[in-house]
Amino acid sequence: MTTTATWTRKHLLGLQELSREEIELVLETAKSFKEVSSRDVKKVPALRGKTVVTLFFEPSTRTRVSFELAAKRLSADTLNITASVSSTTKGETLLDTAKNIEAMSVDAMVVRHGTSGAPMILAEGLNCSVINAGDGCREHPTQALLDMFTLQEKFGRIEGLKVAIVGDILHSRVARSNIWGLTKLGAKVTVCGPATLMPRGIESMGVQVSYDIKDVIRNSDAIIALRLQKERQEAKFLPSMREYAQLFGINAVKLSEGKDGLIVMHPGPTNRGLELSAEVADGKQSVILDQVTNGVAVRMAVLYLVLGTKES
Ligand code: CP
Repeated sequence: MTTTATWTRKHLLGLQELSREEIELVLETAKSFKEVSSRDVKKVPALRGKTVVTLFFEPSTRTRVSFELAAKRLSADTLNITASVSSTTKGETLLDTAKNIEAMSVDAMVVRHGTSGAPMILAEGLNCSVINAGDGCREHPTQALLDMFTLQEKFGRIEGLKVAIVGDILHSRVARSNIWGLTKLGAKVTVCGPATLMPRGIESMGVQVSYDIKDVIRNSDAIIALRLQKERQEAKFLPSMREYAQLFGINAVKLSEGKDGLIVMHPGPTNRGLELSAEVADGKQSVILDQVTNGVAVRMAVLYLVLGTKES
């Protein structure tokens, strides 16, 4: 995969608006950054003098830590702000909080927020770059980019791969970003989960819908199991968690029906015993920790590309 695309975007808000060539450019750039994390001195001077702030209004382990590591490995200065200790708790608006942080000469703000579209509001109101680290149920672009990077690394291609996304599709920003990205890169995507957690009309995004997990496992090259997002479920979408685990949870018995080379992915955090059995999560077909490792390289690429652009 080689691309002649150039990067002109100041922000990364989602994969819906990115072209195939732009996605390929991020993946190629990430490939060149991956070896930095295996050096004794894990640093390159690419973003020396830049300041990157992470502003998280929802919990995170992987995304926040890997953005911070990515920025540090590019020699940027970093600052992490969590909502519970910010002045939004005293009634300040999101944009006011962000403008005040930006007033201290910040170059990029990495934002996670429970409201879909919150990073767009910041991108319109701020002068610095804004990177979406997950907004409501809408998009989680860097998660999908690291998932695609991992698929590319494991299979040497994405074009033609059969990828199944399994679980709580309705509430999943990871599913949406992966659908945008994977279909643009030529993968055949199937979504599978309980009917109550399947968005109406999702076929219009270019995916197939299945409710038969065994059939999906038999016919896939890769399965992306999703976290069941209990915090976003206002109504009762499932009779019981036990029933979900029985019907859609992936265990070693179900997985044994899959093709040779089938891999299992999960964005984390994993509810062990619910979406994946412990045996599968820790098993040979699981690439969950590879995804986490690749997250640093992908976020280095995104920061590097976004902060290098001159677009205003
Ligand atoms: N995948 C993901 O977004 O994980 P975190 O919530 O830990 O950042």
